[in-house]
Amino acid sequence: MILIIDFGAQYSQLIARRVREANVYCEIIPYTYTIERIREKTPKGIILSGGPASVYAENAPKIDREIFNLGVPVLGICYGGQFIAQEFGGQVRKADFREYGRTKLNILSDDRLFKDIGQNSLCWMSHTDFIERAPEGFEITANTDSCPVCAMRNEEKEIYAVQFHPEVEHTEKGREIISNFLFNICKMNKDWNIGDYTKYSIERIKKEVGDKKALCALSGGVDSSVAAVMVHKALGSNLICVFVDHGLLRKDEGDQVERVFREKFNMNLIRVNAQERFLSKLAGVTEPEKKRKIIGEEFIRVFEEEKQKLKKEFGHIDYLVQGTIYPDVIESGTSTASVIKSHHNVGGLPDDVDFELLEPLRQLFKDEVRQVGRELGIPEEIVERQPFPGPGLAIRCLGEVTEDKLKIIREADFIFRDEIKKAGLQNKIWQYFAALPNIRSVGVMGDERTYSHTVTLRAVNSTDGMTSDWARIPYEVLEKVSTRIVNEVDNVNRIVYDITSKPPATIEYE
Ligand code: XMP
Repeated sequence: MILIIDFGAQYSQLIARRVREANVYCEIIPYTYTIERIREKTPKGIILSGGPASVYAENAPKIDREIFNLGVPVLGICYGGQFIAQEFGGQVRKADFREYGRTKLNILSDDRLFKDIGQNSLCWMSHTDFIERAPEGFEITANTDSCPVCAMRNEEKEIYAVQFHPEVEHTEKGREIISNFLFNICKMNKDWNIGDYTKYSIERIKKEVGDKKALCALSGGVDSSVAAVMVHKALGSNLICVFVDHGLLRKDEGDQVERVFREKFNMNLIRVNAQERFLSKLAGVTEPEKKRKIIGEEFIRVFEEEKQKLKKEFGHIDYLVQGTIYPDVIESGTSTASVIKSHHNVGGLPDDVDFELLEPLRQLFKDEVRQVGRELGIPEEIVERQPFPGPGLAIRCLGEVTEDKLKIIREADFIFRDEIKKAGLQNKIWQYFAALPNIRSVGVMGDERTYSHTVTLRAVNSTDGMTSDWARIPYEVLEKVSTRIVNEVDNVNRIVYDITSKPPATIEYE
């Protein structure tokens, strides 16, 4: 495998995506790993990520320099490259201006990293510090107008450094550069492929679980669905799925989930209709965090009750299936910031001492999970589903959650999704939904005065939900959505489109 050492970069996961796209397995580890732990992983190559710090700062993140003596090639990107320069006695300093954007790369010598990419191409820069002088033993292989050492190498030790970011789309030959590192320099094999991985995982689950039983909390979201189908292929009816319908799902979603898993996959599925239970717990509650906590707790309670019932019926259940995916398990190079919202996930059920965890997607990124889903024959409508929060529509229904308000959201949201689909935009927007901000205002319909709800439309683009930008939906599409919602949904007379990015707003409203 290739190890990516994370110095707190925005782009570490992107580096990993690029490596895996090239059919090479990789893992991300934080820079705090000891050399012994790194050795245990037996990497065939190491990539040092970028990061926000300065290598010469006190407390700058560092990794044991023994990594350079492991006998495997190392590629440093941005901060990672500056770290190499500093460790080997070069000079890194702060530039007068922060460089951010595309720059022309001049390749100066024949280099294995830059094989077949031409003399000049555009690369993406995002840095303030730069390598002013390459260390002894290193040869400069590329520069730009503002970076004398845009790339350097020590051929003998197989250590490479680049100032730019080959992992981002804006670097024209980025994929080729990463492939050159993997195949020309590290001599990796292209042996990471989703089809084989899927078969291998099913076999492994069969072997591990044998004829024991497993339980899965199914939400209908991509991750839990793919995990459930994969485990189902391994265990058949020894997998029991519990689908808690908390009444906060989108229009027809509960029935759709039930239909797919019961009819298409013939799963042992229990649907718990707990709509009233959740609504009565939420009655009168307006504070966002309190709403989230109530839903999270109630969810666990319902699940526990079902588990007890199942134990009576099926006997002991040994395993709990969770749809944990790789981004959930990566320890980052930096400690995460304060909790903005307490997340509720079906995957976030408490680790019950009774259960062993079965997490078949732990190694996979989201788009790989989708590929596995397709391999397993899960319909597109589920595999391509946009992110949907655990607390469901409750956090899109500001103020008190009532069935009347939920009904408005469900209908409005359905129309919005329908029109996005008709406009062919459904795979071009990361997440889109309708919300009810709990505002009523005056309008006029026919000749009558109305005093009705406002519906907010929110559509954002993002890669991981950590930051996002509002989607530039064509006015004509927004117009259709607005007209349809006002005409088709009772008690709505005004539609607004949310044009805030994250930060400062969040994607969801509560
Ligand atoms: P925010 O609102 O924090 O959302 O900008 C970022 C992304 O996370 C989703 N989200 C959740 N997902 N459980 C989840 O599984 C939750 O409690 C939750 N809250 C927000 C949100 O839909 C967006 O994609």
